[in-house]
Amino acid sequence: MALTETAAMPTEAGSDIHTTPTKAKDLPEFRDLKFENINELHLDHPGANDPEYRKRRDYIASLAKKFRETGEVTDVDYSEQEQEIWRHVATRLEELHEQHASPFYLKAKRDLGITNERIPQLTEMNRRLKELTGFRLAPIEGLVETRGFLSWLGYRVMLSTQYIRHHSRPDYTPEPDVVHESIGHIPMFTNPNFADFSQSIGEGAQRATDKQIEELGRLYWYTVEFGLVEHEGGIKAYGAGLLSSFGELEHAFGDEVERRPFDLDEVINTPYTYSDMQPILYVIPSYAELKEVTRKYIESFDRK
Ligand SMILES: [Fe+2]
Repeated sequence: MALTETAAMPTEAGSDIHTTPTKAKDLPEFRDLKFENINELHLDHPGANDPEYRKRRDYIASLAKKFRETGEVTDVDYSEQEQEIWRHVATRLEELHEQHASPFYLKAKRDLGITNERIPQLTEMNRRLKELTGFRLAPIEGLVETRGFLSWLGYRVMLSTQYIRHHSRPDYTPEPDVVHESIGHIPMFTNPNFADFSQSIGEGAQRATDKQIEELGRLYWYTVEFGLVEHEGGIKAYGAGLLSSFGELEHAFGDEVERRPFDLDEVINTPYTYSDMQPILYVIPSYAELKEVTRKYIESFDRK
């Protein structure tokens, strides 16, 4: 269950920055972790009053608990109804992606073998990620508190849910699900600079003060979830919250959003809300630049 191999790291176009995968000895045992504050299904979840859905979600969540005991990720035998939700959402999002998604993201999705036809398994994406950046996906059964979640990125591990949203509202979920993870987050971990940047946030979270955790949460929000990136004189999306939501993605390129150049000091001091569309988004010049400013910021933790 550990990262045992040092894979050859491809570099982002135009960059000569290489990554250094986390060594096996650095990775703690999943079984030793106490996952606190994992949310139960909220009453405003579209599936909250559907006993069949709750049973299914509980079963898939139990696979994450099993993983922490055995270290083995279990593939989910998704039902036809679950596959249909995926096909619907993935197909609809793809049209918007062609227009607005970062070219790196579009290529990464193809490289990982993520298609509109079926829900990808964490195991197959893990095989590719291991070759590309040494990142890996570990199943989790719900939202984890900020420090715990971010700290795992420091070991090049992303905690990922495996269940899917309720069929009554395929275009909406109030919590992360396999659509949000696989369409939103996972492709970007094939980018060496983005993977290093994510690891850097995680290493910061492992030793941050409470105030710094709040800052890291904002940095994560305005980049990993809602980030925009310059591309050939234009602006593209790379944030998971944008790429996995029609509403957010259309909104991000509309007139009601202020798109500002990325400024780390400003970002870590700008609060956000979960409930509304984002009024401000930040545009990074490149993933390499994001990695570098974040590295310096995290280094400054040790001087305070
Ligand atoms: Fe997310």
